[in-house]
Amino acid sequence: MELLWPGLLMFQMFCFINGYPNGAPSGACEDMLPRHSGVLPQPSPAPYTILTNARVFQPGKPITVTIIGPEYRGVLLEARTGGGLSALGTWQRPPPDTKFLQCAHNPRGAVTHSNTNLKGNSTVYSWIPPNCASPVYFMATVAQQRTVFWVNIRSTDLTRGKTGDLDLAVGASTGMAEGKPLLPLYVQHHKKQ
Ligand SMILES: *[C@@H]1O[C@H](CO)[C@@H](O)[C@H](O)[C@H]1NC(C)=O
Repeated sequence: MELLWPGLLMFQMFCFINGYPNGAPSGACEDMLPRHSGVLPQPSPAPYTILTNARVFQPGKPITVTIIGPEYRGVLLEARTGGGLSALGTWQRPPPDTKFLQCAHNPRGAVTHSNTNLKGNSTVYSWIPPNCASPVYFMATVAQQRTVFWVNIRSTDLTRGKTGDLDLAVGASTGMAEGKPLLPLYVQHHKKQ
């Protein structure tokens, strides 16, 4: 683990470059709040969990993401690193009833709903990691109705795989949407000191 740190500082730069931190925020990309004047997020813990098909990522290798919980109508989903507000990486093939949302200069920086049809845990989002050495995580805002939504729904961290871990990352991608409860254990194990 220690050997990673010098590289981590250097590659941190790539994360920010890919996320265009100086670009103008487009709409809700940064605060991820619906633009409903006067409607506050639900204060209760979100009944949603963001699951990923892998606990490590490799630049360019798709990661699938599902939102597990009651069916929902609205969604905003982004990948992030550290405490940053920039949307990282690019999404591909928005599933039915969703579309891309441009964040800063990244036309595929986020995915959001394209209508109010119900979406459920069979809705699978696919994300392409950038060349980022830092851990990344997914953030979502999920709405059941216009006035009922939760913000700051966060996945566990995914760590950057070493080059030799390629097979692990690819192998894990066959696990798909069912979600592996292994994830929290892995993250605790690798928490920073
Ligand atoms: C996925 O959604 C279906 C239909 O809403 C539900 O029956 C099932 O229990 C859900 N699975 C999980 C893992 O939440």
